Amino acid sequence: MRRLTVPKIRARKADGNTAEPIVMLTAYTARQAQLLDPHCDILLVGDSLGQVIYGLPSTIPVTLEMMANHAAAVVRGSYHAVVVVDMPFGAYEASPQHAFEAAAHLLKASGAAAVKLEGGEAMAETVAFLSQRGIPVMGHVGLTPQAVNVLGGYAARGRDDGEADKIIGDATALEEAGAFAVVVEGVVEPIAVAVTRSLACPVIGIGASAQCDGQVLVTEDMLGMFERVPRFVKRYGDIAATISETAERYATEVRARSFPGPDQLYQPKDD
Ligand code: KIV
Ligand code: NA
Repeated sequence: MRRLTVPKIRARKADGNTAEPIVMLTAYTARQAQLLDPHCDILLVGDSLGQVIYGLPSTIPVTLEMMANHAAAVVRGSYHAVVVVDMPFGAYEASPQHAFEAAAHLLKASGAAAVKLEGGEAMAETVAFLSQRGIPVMGHVGLTPQAVNVLGGYAARGRDDGEADKIIGDATALEEAGAFAVVVEGVVEPIAVAVTRSLACPVIGIGASAQCDGQVLVTEDMLGMFERVPRFVKRYGDIAATISETAERYATEVRARSFPGPDQLYQPKDD
């Protein structure tokens, strides 16, 4: 099976309606990508790896090299899904030229097919610059975690007057600039529905609406790796409990000297 492509993802909404929702999950490592790949249309190497993998307080400190290294691992572990890489904070905001250099580095270093960046109208010029020069761009509006210091937290967007128009305007500007898809995160549901209806390109929701053209979640959140998760996360697994119980059994056997047992040991040749 040949790998899916950006035009194929974009074409899923060609008739104005995505018949089958687009399935997207984050992936940061090769083995994780391998396990998720058969089930996903898009694997996102999200800058959420800052918190999830590195224990950072936000996505602000994430570097281009972190993104490039994890993206390369995810490309190596997958063969079906389109791999999209987040542009980290500081790598694209200053100018379209700066953004192009960073995005080109990410794609060259990893083999990923596209980048994602946060922001609306202010980023439209950059989205156009990249997509006209061979770099497909996925937009990201609504709750944009890299703006945490401006927003003052991670509260859902669109509850205040005027915010709905701003978010819809941002998404529209990205599409007009050439974005092949737009993530809408953490917005009140009517806004997510309005954005989905007004854009011709696929709209991928997270904390948005089941009516979006696709959904994305942070894989570790979905697997139940963390005790505290945002309201919009559904925990489909309890991987934290599995890891804790497994480590506990190992520790117990090591302390009892019952591991390693005969099956795990090498014996000298009989002569
Ligand atoms: O970094 C990330 O994981 C993301 C998704 C949650 C959309 O941007
Ligand atoms: Na992100």
